[in-house]
Amino acid sequence: QLIRREDYTAPAYWIRSVDLTFELDPAKTLVINRMQVERNADQPAQPLRLHGEDITVTRVLVNGDSVSFRHEDGQLVIDTLPDTPFSLEIRNICAPDKNTKLSGLYQSGGGLFTQCEAEGFRRITYFLDRPDVMAVYTVTLRASKAAYPVLLSNGNLVEQGELPNGKHFAKWHDPFPKPSYLFALVAADLVAREQHIRTRSGKDHLLQVYVRRGDLEKTEHAMNSLIASVVWDEARFKLPLDLERFMIVAVGDFNMGAMENKGLNIFNTKFVLATPATATDVDYAGIESVVGHEYFHNWTGNRITCRDWFQLSLKEGLTVFRDQEFSMDMTGSATARAVKRIEDVRQLRQIQFPEDAGSMAHPVRPDSYVEINNFYTATVYEKGAEVVRMMQTLVGRDGFARGMTLYFERFDGQAVTCDDFAQSIADANPDSELARQLPQFKRWYSQAGTPRLASRGRFDAPTRTYTLSLEQHGLPSPGQSEKEPYVIPVAMGLVGRDGRAIPLQLEGEAEASGTERVLVLNQPRNFYTFVNVDVEPVPSLLRGFSAPVVLNDHLADADLLVLLQHDPDPFNRWEAGQRLALNRLLAAIGSDEPLVLDAGFTDALRAVLRHPELDAAFKDLTLTLPSETYLAEQLQVVDPQKIHAARESMKLQLAQALRDDWAWAFEQHQVAGGYSPDAVSAGKRSLANLSLSMLCLASAADGDTVWPGRAFQRFKDAGNMTDRLGALSALTGSHAELAAPALERFHALFKGDALVIDKWFALQATTPEKNGLVFERAKQLLKHPDFSLKNPNRARSLISALCMNNPAAFHRADGAGHAFWADRIVELDGINPQLAARMARVMDRWAALAEPYRTSAHAALQRVAAKADLSNDVREIIGRALQQV
Ligand code: ARG
Ligand code: ZN
Repeated sequence: QLIRREDYTAPAYWIRSVDLTFELDPAKTLVINRMQVERNADQPAQPLRLHGEDITVTRVLVNGDSVSFRHEDGQLVIDTLPDTPFSLEIRNICAPDKNTKLSGLYQSGGGLFTQCEAEGFRRITYFLDRPDVMAVYTVTLRASKAAYPVLLSNGNLVEQGELPNGKHFAKWHDPFPKPSYLFALVAADLVAREQHIRTRSGKDHLLQVYVRRGDLEKTEHAMNSLIASVVWDEARFKLPLDLERFMIVAVGDFNMGAMENKGLNIFNTKFVLATPATATDVDYAGIESVVGHEYFHNWTGNRITCRDWFQLSLKEGLTVFRDQEFSMDMTGSATARAVKRIEDVRQLRQIQFPEDAGSMAHPVRPDSYVEINNFYTATVYEKGAEVVRMMQTLVGRDGFARGMTLYFERFDGQAVTCDDFAQSIADANPDSELARQLPQFKRWYSQAGTPRLASRGRFDAPTRTYTLSLEQHGLPSPGQSEKEPYVIPVAMGLVGRDGRAIPLQLEGEAEASGTERVLVLNQPRNFYTFVNVDVEPVPSLLRGFSAPVVLNDHLADADLLVLLQHDPDPFNRWEAGQRLALNRLLAAIGSDEPLVLDAGFTDALRAVLRHPELDAAFKDLTLTLPSETYLAEQLQVVDPQKIHAARESMKLQLAQALRDDWAWAFEQHQVAGGYSPDAVSAGKRSLANLSLSMLCLASAADGDTVWPGRAFQRFKDAGNMTDRLGALSALTGSHAELAAPALERFHALFKGDALVIDKWFALQATTPEKNGLVFERAKQLLKHPDFSLKNPNRARSLISALCMNNPAAFHRADGAGHAFWADRIVELDGINPQLAARMARVMDRWAALAEPYRTSAHAALQRVAAKADLSNDVREIIGRALQQV
């Protein structure tokens, strides 16, 4: 059943406060739910319909008297109710130990945890489980003291004590009204790292990070990240911590990354636990950004929440934007900021662009859904963040801060819409392009698909003018055949062939103003004429990736080489290098001619690698070839094997052509001393690791044994996980015979550490495919005693790693990869539909596959579709995929 945005109506009743008592027991938890309810006078009188799922009601009392009720469409319906506010008491039972969906109240590692967003609260008790119903919660938890020594819920601890029979209790009160999706409880045997901080207002706060016994020494980075987040939000947006106590709890079984429950964030262990020996630089960065993200939700999400789930990007797009800014501000240098931006854009292109071009394409503010969990997507999150970023670009950084202030003045404590947010930013900046063009700008919220932007430049020597034409068009997407023009901010500059930045003066302007500006394209096509231009420049467009579009700037290799060498914008400098590689790869894929690298290209990359001033992290990104997924994105018909072959061939030639340079880079970028996850050290490590894998690759081709030997030694001696995994992956990618004992050793060394064993599975599943062996190994790993579909991290480490991140191992001519996928989806659907639906997404773009892959993908999809009692989650994904022909 399709839910439509246009069908929104306010609730017929309000729940103002709720008092919950839990008798916690894994097999049979009793919930006593006492609500203060009143009719919403704006709505016609009607029965009260409460959501409930997989729970058993035992009694219903209104103002203390039992009343009759009925079940209809999965809801509990009470027909006769007083006209005046009334108390409603419901008692019900749920079974956390049977809850394999990990939504609602569930068991993990002997503890009890909750996940309520989006619609998990109804799996705990009957309620108006929608975000526009906000109540004040008081929660009493009662449980065995031995099994569950720690009892947590939202807000402040008001009382705790002993009970008969070895039980104890804790009572929590959250003073802030909140929607049910922000409710949380934890009952488990945990320990906490604690830190007191004083915020600017002079108030004291207690920060806590709860983990299982034995993991405490892995929480330092998470705590540091939390402290930094509190400080940052107060400094950058004047948003203080509003609770006496702020808790993070780590749990090993979790569907997503983390959850921003008020005052009680619950996290996937992956985004909490880290030591240098067990976590990589990427993990450290992930922890910082996710801790920031969830903390920032306290204002953008919790204090102001969503009116309905179609508005999800109101909190997610904005909060991703905030966590991206936070991570950039934490780096401390301009290049490191650019590196973070490049990484974010790479992610957007890798995941969101394909999404926008496939069966699941949807606007940032979707118009309909079957299962809301399917719309926690890269479009809502990452493209949503780009939309917020464009607003900031259009009104400036200060203007954006003013807009945020107005947003909180207007809507603090309310459940609102994306329109309310955009209006606040515009109203606080009445003279901005955003205010002038707001209705058109908001097409970014309503139109799906990645817009195409084409540019052509014409230099006219006699008049010393340079005319730039910018042309946009939108591609059709499911349910939207026509697209209206967007408002596209194009940050740009003109670069002379000698590297000089040319002053920008548009026709009609009295003088030049600066060497960089933002052109605001709002027509299908706009022309811009720059005057006083002496020599033909190279246009550098969409600097910093100022809009989420696909740009075709028609630049020749010679122009791209100028930008790679001279562009003052590091993003576009990186982009020029990627484009040079992309052009060559696409030519090879399209022609069946073997790819032969030209000296112009390898020399340019060598110059970057050897550059005396560029950051190691920037070099690493520039010398990393565009991914197979990104390449597939550029093609009408996708042949994953050809893409893989072309990319592997380019990688090998680059490894060989730059052999001495890689060796130099490897030696030059060793990090001495103890481990620190800062951006500079991490950049050096990643460039050293890239160099090492290139050296091993070149060695495999010519039989040299020195570098693989060094890699093996480094794997054994490494002082941190980044270097250890880097060396191991250099071996798995080139020397299977050395990789095998190394993998065995790695497993033995880390067998007790779930997050590291996840890496062990993922590394094997993402090894570059050769002769089908990687796929065969992945299939064997399904039977490994450590493998389980029930743990989401473990399931992802093998299944998603193979099907999503290793296209050449997955899309096989014999169709075995697709059959493997279908089997796993069917199996997982019976356990955890939300996770199964996510993994089903690898087939979004099946219709673009070349034969024979297309036919076997279609058959696999039909096999999943034919499963009896398929979940709504998976049915929606498969159904949309099969609508493509
Ligand atoms: N709000 C969480 C976050 O972005 C994600 C929760 C998603 N949960 C889900 N079941 N879809 O941090
Ligand atoms: Zn979020």
